[in-house]
Formats: sequence, structure tokens, C-alpha cells
Amino acid sequence: MTATPIDGKAFAADLRARIAREVVALAARGITPGLAVVLVGEDPASQVYVRSKGKQTREVGMNSYEHRLPAETGEAELLDLIARLNADPAVNGILVQLPLPAHMDEAAVIGAIDPDKDVDGFHVLNVGRLATGQKAMVPCTPLGCLMLLRDRLGDLSGRRAVVIGRSNIVGKPMAQLLLRDSATVTIAHSRTRDLPQLCREAEILIAAVGRAHFVKADWIRPGATVIDVGINRTEAGLVGDVDHAAAREVAGAITPVPGGVGPMTIACLLANTLTATARANG
Ligand code: GUN
Repeated sequence: MTATPIDGKAFAADLRARIAREVVALAARGITPGLAVVLVGEDPASQVYVRSKGKQTREVGMNSYEHRLPAETGEAELLDLIARLNADPAVNGILVQLPLPAHMDEAAVIGAIDPDKDVDGFHVLNVGRLATGQKAMVPCTPLGCLMLLRDRLGDLSGRRAVVIGRSNIVGKPMAQLLLRDSATVTIAHSRTRDLPQLCREAEILIAAVGRAHFVKADWIRPGATVIDVGINRTEAGLVGDVDHAAAREVAGAITPVPGGVGPMTIACLLANTLTATARANG
């Protein structure tokens, strides 16, 4: 039986529509959420993401503040800008696009963002809040994956989940979110032994390794829900971390690439900006 496609594009459009309605309700109280996006340098992929973030921010009725700095900007200057954005009441969310140029200390830059405006959820305080069950800003891509999983499966309690990948942006927060929903979580990575066998135990399989078609169909438990976080540029175009054509003959449900997790990331960024605005205004 062919897997049900999980339509992240449609889910994200619906989420953005709900956010836009909340923004209208806030406007009645004289509040307009504002998201500041900072891009240092000219990385082409980052430029595409930043443009899309600005466009979607405006489309839901929020204010978008874009700050583009040259690649040779000094770290002190970037920290200065962050301090000004922290102090600006019109700015509810701050996102510094990664990766930063090599001469900058990423941890120091992220650490300078006000944790309550940290809509990426990358500040150590938010990482710690998530890990200890406190109210946190949650990283956007794993938050989007969680929404798709809950929509598909309902209660995740007791379900066996395997997350392949241990990045700070996806793998680790994904595992924390699944654990918070009482799933039984295993984090696998490049050193994991017998990875195919481990994956076959998973009712929920999250692939976040960044390698095209890394996960094969015979690693997938029949009927499993598969979330493919990979966005790999190949000669054949954009492909995920899962060998999709073969996997969909085994899985119960699977996200496509593109049109699966990707659109959820920016929608969740807007959701986090709304959350930050609501918290800032009581
Ligand atoms: N670069 C790639 N993904 C992300 C993300 O989610 N947030 C930021 N700030 N930079 C990124």
C-alpha cells in the first residue's frame, strides 16, 4: 500500500491563515508583532531564506525588519545591532541567519539575543527551558515536525521514535519535543551501530542527516510515519534524506521534499513571533 503523503505545504498555509487572524485581533489592541531578521554576508541560500521570511512575515500582517550586513562586519558591530533590537519594543522576535561568517563566534552572538525574543529557540536558556519542561521558545523546524506528527497520529505517548541526526537546530530539540510528548525516543547519528535495524523499530522516523537518499526503504517499519527534514540539492533537483520513491511503498505516511517539512519552518517562525508578542504584552 502506498503511504499517505503528509502535506506540509497545506498545513503551513492553514497555520499562516490562523496566525493572520490573531494578528488582526492584536491590531485591535494597537499591537503589531515585529520580526527582525539579520543576515551577515551574501550566502545565496541564506539570501533566499531571508527574502522568503520577510515576505511571509508581511503577508500575515506583521512588521518585518531586515538588517543586511556585509560579510566583513565585525562581531562587536553585530552585537551592537542585537543590543538595539533587544531594547526596541517594536521588535518582538530576533533571528540571526546562520551560518555566520567564520570570524564570528556563533554561540556569543546567539547568547546576546534576549531569550524572550529568541524566535529560533537557539539561546542556551531556551534549550535549557525546553529540556527542563519550562515555557521555552522552541526551534522552528522540529516544532513544525511535531505539529505534523500530532496531526497525523494524535497522542504520541508511548510511541517509539528514532531521530537520525543530533544537530542543535533539528535533531536534539526534536528529541526533546518528542520526549515532552511522552514518546520513547532514540537519537541516532553517524556513529550509531546497526542503524537500519534500529530504524526498523521506529513507529516514528525522523531523518535529519543532510545526506540525499540516506534512509532506504528496507530501514522503514511497515506503516511507520516518516518525517524527512533533508533538503539536499542534487543534479536531479531538491531531494530529501529518505529514498522517497521506494520508502512510500513501505511507510504509512511520509512527508515529501519539497512540500513537507520545509514550508512548516517559516510558518513556525511566525507562530513563535506571535507567541513572543503575546508574552511581551501579557
Ligand atoms: N540556517 C538554517 N536554518 C536556520 C534556522 O532555522 N534559523 C537560523 N537562524 N538560521 C538557519
